[in-house]
Amino acid sequence: MRVVDTGRLRLEPQTAAHAEAMFAVLGDPALYEHENEPPSSVEWLRARFGRLASRRSADGREQWLNWVIRLPTGELIGYVQATVRPGGGAAIAYVLSSAYWGRGIAQQAVEAMIAELVEHHEVRSLSAVLKRRNVRSLRLLERLGFAPASPGHDGEDRVEPDELVMRRELRVT
Ligand SMILES: CC(C)(COP(=O)(O)OP(=O)(O)OC[C@H]1O[C@@H](n2cnc3c(N)ncnc32)[C@H](O)[C@@H]1OP(=O)(O)O)[C@@H](O)C(=O)NCCC(=O)NCCS
Repeated sequence: MRVVDTGRLRLEPQTAAHAEAMFAVLGDPALYEHENEPPSSVEWLRARFGRLASRRSADGREQWLNWVIRLPTGELIGYVQATVRPGGGAAIAYVLSSAYWGRGIAQQAVEAMIAELVEHHEVRSLSAVLKRRNVRSLRLLERLGFAPASPGHDGEDRVEPDELVMRRELRVT
């Protein structure tokens, strides 16, 4: 995994050393309006980031790629992640501190990750699973060129009834 620098944002491969600063970012209650919950302690998060630094699923089949998002000021403001499967499909996810919502930063960060996935991880198609009521996430995916997956074409993504799968095929020249 590489550092991805857009000039305005820096995506750094996530390691246990990011746990303390990310614990503060991930304590933001606004992030959990639709799903999930904040990490229970810095120690828990450090252990998790340590495990994720293997960059692989337990069975070794998938690459698990996580980058934290850093501003030029040095502040960490969220993360982007990709689960890369054999065959070139990747499921993506993203979280941005609510203090920075509404500025196009998430879009920039996810676009930078997608370019990196295409150029360096042989990714050819993308998917994202979201809660249907998560309108911010839906709008972000639409801006990024994703469209709802046709019924029955959820691929390897496991989906609950209140969730939606969005997909984007990448044209690689
Ligand atoms: C999902 C999430 C990352 C979206 O963040 P966001 O700030 O809304 O997304 P963007 O960075 O693309 O910003 C888009 C907004 O900035 C505005 N904007 C301003 N300048 C912009 C620019 N140059 N480019 C794009 N958008 C811009 C857009 O108009 C848009 O506004 P709108 O929300 O009123 O339509 C954020 O809400 C989040 O972290 N949520 C909690 C975690 C979560 O739900 N993750 C997804 C799980 S599936």
